Formats: sequence, structure tokens, C-alpha cells
Amino acid sequence: SDCYNVNEKGHLTISGCDTVELAEKYGTALYVMSEDEIRSVCRRYKSSFERHYNGNGTALYASKAFCCKEICRIVTEEGLDLDVVSGGELYTALAAGVDAKHIHFHGNNKTMQELCYALESGVGDIVVDNLNELHRIEKLSAEKGVVTSISMRIKPGIDAHTHEFIRTGQIDSKFGFALENGEAFEAVKEAVACENVELIGLHCHIGSQIFDKAPFVLAAQVMLKFYNKIHTELGKTLTHLNLGGGFGVKYKEADAAVPYEDYMSDVSEAVHAACKEYGIQVPYIYIEPGRSIVCEAGLTLYTVGDIKTIPNVRTYVAIDGGMYENPRYALYQSDYTCLIANKVNEPADFTATIAGKCCESGDLIQENTLIQKPEVGDILAVLSTGAYNYSMASNYNRNTRPPVVMVRGGESRVIIKGETYEDLVRNDV
Ligand code: LLP
Repeated sequence: SDCYNVNEKGHLTISGCDTVELAEKYGTALYVMSEDEIRSVCRRYKSSFERHYNGNGTALYASKAFCCKEICRIVTEEGLDLDVVSGGELYTALAAGVDAKHIHFHGNNKTMQELCYALESGVGDIVVDNLNELHRIEKLSAEKGVVTSISMRIKPGIDAHTHEFIRTGQIDSKFGFALENGEAFEAVKEAVACENVELIGLHCHIGSQIFDKAPFVLAAQVMLKFYNKIHTELGKTLTHLNLGGGFGVKYKEADAAVPYEDYMSDVSEAVHAACKEYGIQVPYIYIEPGRSIVCEAGLTLYTVGDIKTIPNVRTYVAIDGGMYENPRYALYQSDYTCLIANKVNEPADFTATIAGKCCESGDLIQENTLIQKPEVGDILAVLSTGAYNYSMASNYNRNTRPPVVMVRGGESRVIIKGETYEDLVRNDV
């Protein structure tokens, strides 16, 4: 990503800030995010919607990727809507001052409390996952004397997570209504018959970290076919279609670039062609990327505390962080690019296993990865940690979550304070 560079001291910089100086100023472990990069991705999405849909659609930022008040302000200032999946994410967005109309509430088992909260806040729509939820929303809306806008989560039967993506009849997923057996159509009929909900659209999401654009195109075609079936067979014309998120990002140099520009043009072609064929108006299109907006904009800085070589096996480089602030390697064996931030110009020819400080052997950030020759006291940087790191962090071993610093044009500021020991016992009785 464009926000990274190397300065005259051979230090890694992000948005014009020297990462070694950031580590000194704020301490480690430290999450750093580039506001310039985040805004530039938002603008690219925005201009894609201008180009391909005449502005008749928008991206929602899937806040699960990284949620705090400041990111909600930044992405909505750039004109994106927000996807929230819990009362907590909704609360954060509202606390940031986001207009509820621009918030879309997802999730496969929203609690009664969350549904009440969403209704009272007046969110743009609730994406309904199942019939029990539909009935709860209908009942709550009737009690409150309101009509609630909903969309329905559909399983389009596309498994994009296989090597070659596949079209499956019945996809094994806990999310949404199946198309194949008529479940989705019956559910739509019920929703249309409800007096206190207004079905405005359909939603699907086929997976995450996907580089292939074909499954996205197929999903758009499948969804529009169903959208049209509702129009022709039930005489109900919907207005919105949400095609989900999931665009891949670069974790390693070898990864392809974010494919969303291709994705946007191919999908819009498919959308326009289908609508022409069916003779219907092009719906208002939503997509909901999370990872591709924040992932490459973020990195994490650590101090190397120990280097332990197990002869003929491997070398552990121990850092002052770990699975409590980045659980993704422990969970998914995910790739990361690691480097010594104060020695970027030196050759990366040292094979290291980056180990955290949690009391378990699986607490690794990356295994057998090439970095510059490390010494105790060096600053280790892990790149592309802007998505699903802070948001998936925990207090395991009663470690405190690190602060998040936002950088922009050479300036830095804390957007989430680091936790203190008092924070850890705040709710202990
Ligand atoms: N919309 C829905 C309904 C989703 O379930 C997700 C992600 C997104 C949008 C955003 O997808 P993205 O553009 O960020 O790929 N914790 C995992 C990722 C889980 C993604 C879950 N849903 C990880 O760390 O890789």
C-alpha cells in the first residue's frame, strides 16, 4: 500500500511517520493505522459507484473489521454507510454521531434487546436472518406502532472458499435463507404479508478474503434472478440489493492487489445485463467491504524482548504482544509480512518464528518467516493488521489491549487508549 515508505535512517514509515519514533512515543505493542490510506480506499469505492451505477448505490463499511468511534466518523464522513452486527457496534456508531439511517443491522441471532435498540434508534434497515427473527421484528414493530424496513439474508449457494469456487445446492451455513428448497421464497411471502415490516431488499455475502471475481458475478446473477422472481410472481418490487463484502487484500508481497476495481466493473455489467433482460429498474446497490478498507492501512509495532534458538529446529523471536492482540495466526494460520522496522534496508535473510507472550505454545504471529537479522530491543513490525486484529483482541492472560494510533500526513494521535490494569478489574466483583 502507498502509505508505507523507508526514511533516510532506514526506518519504516507510515503516512510520513517514523514507526520507530511512534514506538518510542507511544510504547509497544502498538497498533498504527493510516487515515490517508483508509480515506483513499473509501474514495475509490465512492468513485466506483459514481462510475458504474451513477451514484445509485454505496459501500457500507463492515465495522466488524475494526470498530471504534473514530473509524465510524472517518468512513461516514467519506460518504459510506455502516454495517453493524451487534448492539455494541450499533452503540459505537451512534456514539460517534453516525446518522442511524445510514446504519444497517446484520447478524444471525440478534437478541430481543438488540432488536429493540435497533428499532428505537431508527436504523436504515435490519437484515433478517430467519423466520423467528422476522416474527420478533413484526411483533416489536406493531407494539411500537412503527413500520420497520428490512432486507432478507439469502444464501445464494456459492462457496467461494474452495480452490475453484463452486456452486452448491445447499450450502452449509448458519446465515440466512436457502434459495434451493424454496425456503427463501416462502420467507419472502411471509415478510410481504407482514403489516409492520416493509421488505425493501435482499442481501448476500459469499465469504471473505476472496480474489476471484467470478463468484461475485455469479452471486449478483443469482440474486437478481430471485429479485425478479419476487417482482413477477408476488408483484412486489424491491428497491435494494446488497451483494456483501469479502474482497481480498495483500498480506504477503506475493498476494495479488485488492481486486475491487475489476470486481466493481464486472459485477455492475452483470447487474445491468440482468436488469435489462428482466426489464426491471436497476436496484440501489450496496456492497459491504470491511477488510479491504482498513487492513492494509494498519500495522502493529512490537519490541523484541528475547531471541531463542533451538538448535536445528528454529529461532523464536519473542515480542511484547501475541494472540491476545492478534489471534489470526493462532486461529487461521494466516499469512503476515514481518520486518525489523529499524533495519528495513538490511537483507531479510533470517528465518524467525515470531512468538507472543501468552502462556501457550500456539501463541505465534508467524512461523519461519524471513526478517532482517533481529537483536533484542529492535522494533518488529507486522503489516496489514488493520482488519480483524483490534476487533478480535482479548484480555487473555490479563494482558491489556494496546492503544491504536491514527497517522495522517506525518501527524499522529491516539484514537483508542491502551487499557490499564484498572480496566482489567473494572467489572470484577
Ligand atoms: N458482510 C457480512 C455479512 C460479513 O459476514 C462480513 C464478514 C463482511 C460483510 C465483511 O467481509 P470482508 O470485506 O471484511 O471480508 N475474522 C475473519 C474474517 C471474518 C469475516 C466475517 N464476515 C478474519 O480475521 O479473517
